[in-house]
Amino acid sequence: MCGIIGYVGPDLCADTLIGALSKLEYRGYDSAGIAVIDEGGALVTRRAEGKLGNLVKRLREEPVDGRTGIGHTRWATHGAPTESNAHPHRSGSIAVIHNGIIENHLELKAELREHGHEFTSETDTEVFAHLVDHYRTVRGLALPEAVRQAVIRLHGAYAVVVVDAKTPGMLVGARMASPLVLGVGEGANYLASDAAALLSHTRDMVFIEDGQVVTLTPGGVELRDVASGELLPVAPVHVTWSPAMAEKGGYKHFMLKEIHEQPRAIGDTLRGRVSLERNAVNLPEVPLTRDDLASFRQIYVVACGTSWHAGLVGRYLFEDLAGLSPHVELASELRYRKAPMDERTLFIAVSQSGETADTLAALRDAKAKGARCIAICNVLGSSIPRECEGTVYTHAGPEIGVASTKAFTTQVAALHLIALHFGRLLGRLDDGAMAAELAALLHVPSVIETLLLAGEAPYEEIARAWHDRTSMLFLGRGSLFPMALEGALKLKEISYIHAEGYAAGEMKHGPIALIDEKTPTIILNPRDGHYAKVRSNLSEVRARSGPVCVVATEGDADAGDAATFCLTVPDVPEHVLPLVMAVPMQLIAYHMADFKGTDVDQPRNLAKSVTVE
Ligand code: AGP
Repeated sequence: MCGIIGYVGPDLCADTLIGALSKLEYRGYDSAGIAVIDEGGALVTRRAEGKLGNLVKRLREEPVDGRTGIGHTRWATHGAPTESNAHPHRSGSIAVIHNGIIENHLELKAELREHGHEFTSETDTEVFAHLVDHYRTVRGLALPEAVRQAVIRLHGAYAVVVVDAKTPGMLVGARMASPLVLGVGEGANYLASDAAALLSHTRDMVFIEDGQVVTLTPGGVELRDVASGELLPVAPVHVTWSPAMAEKGGYKHFMLKEIHEQPRAIGDTLRGRVSLERNAVNLPEVPLTRDDLASFRQIYVVACGTSWHAGLVGRYLFEDLAGLSPHVELASELRYRKAPMDERTLFIAVSQSGETADTLAALRDAKAKGARCIAICNVLGSSIPRECEGTVYTHAGPEIGVASTKAFTTQVAALHLIALHFGRLLGRLDDGAMAAELAALLHVPSVIETLLLAGEAPYEEIARAWHDRTSMLFLGRGSLFPMALEGALKLKEISYIHAEGYAAGEMKHGPIALIDEKTPTIILNPRDGHYAKVRSNLSEVRARSGPVCVVATEGDADAGDAATFCLTVPDVPEHVLPLVMAVPMQLIAYHMADFKGTDVDQPRNLAKSVTVE
């Protein structure tokens, strides 16, 4: 995710752009930049690596101002977080800012190169600047039409804002899958990634929809359909959010916002990596050949906390889809063991932050022993990816809540992609199986969207009933055993209620002694291969007066009979069940914590990235 802002109006706007970027910095903070059409009519850009403060310092040294301008704070997806990759990107009199992923940027780049365009960055965004410039200068199109024609060529996710020194007093913006908000002011107009950045200027907003292009001048707004060019009505809504709420997109906490971002985050993580027409996974970031894979004597998947739970889910996928059974290890333990590794070892580090000290230490130890190392990470250019041969980045965007949600589900999606990629390389997956897996994965964002749209009243009811319990159990079998672990971790880390995840089949070997009427158990019992056995476990708990919340498949008529509460998830293929089950695990924890009034986004004693040992 990145933060974008645009202004057109009667006032000098550099301070307005910087002020808005300070409210958008939570969306990304790898670099920042502005471009303005100055009082002499020149297009001037100022950019700086790192946090917004570096750009402010740069502007103090080299001030620039104008009455038409754009600003950007970056969360790097393509191209390291350097100044040369910082937005705005330019071509001739054109400057653009962008939030999203342009999947076909390489083919567009090749086409533009044939027209003599030269590029100075590694980003996908710069390609768009040259494309608009091409339509503007070679085709002679006016700015709004040049942007519309350029946007029509894009595949992927984008929210873009464009300025042109030849057209001062005008901004043009467009969106597909990334948010873009129009702020309607008095004699001035604004574009931003979210309402938070605009509330101090106006509360009259138009939430631009996918496939729309909007042209702003100080006194007017024109909204069109990208595909047809047809003029659309402009109907501002009056936003009553407080600035704090607006930064959370109207959600009470960042964690809840990030739970709801999962359809977009998973979609972005799959984007450009799944080809239905070629029935293939596209993972150039994994630099391993079939012979490399066949040569490995062992595979380690290594992480901490929730990322370790993602690795545990990954093991089921690797075994089922690629016939590979990795060791899934806690980094904080593995780093002190004398585990045998050498050049015939594959080491996969899983980390949201890319900075977790234990995981980084285990990685360095593996490298020292000769292992081949790759990573799954959410932060471009962080320490762990920098020390690996290749990294499959999750495109979850910044995860602000300490409790990991969208980072977890995108890690599982990335592991699923790697398992499929390995399975195909090793000839373990026929075309039919591959097609079924890809279809199931691509369907997950809409399944989770549906689940979230069903509302959260059942979770609030559970919180009202059980917020005062002092201990809870989570039970699951198969790939839902790690989901039981994840549900327990989510609950304990934000509600401070002790919770334990357990393999349901292990209850009879001890934990069932814990069951009494005061100890609730959450049982993951969808219609999967373990359905009957887990249903027996549920009966064993109920027979000892243990309160139960069962998470079942929609339409399972028997599910609620023996349970105090019954939550349901849509019926999905077994390999994507963990992704779907993550949502009830997250929402149970969220509503229990919210009811208790704990600090959901910054729970006591915790930090978002554990860079200490
Ligand atoms: C998860 O909710 C926690 N915040 C924590 O367990 C986290 O997953 C762990 O610290 C690993 O962090 P990383 O993914 O950034 O390496």
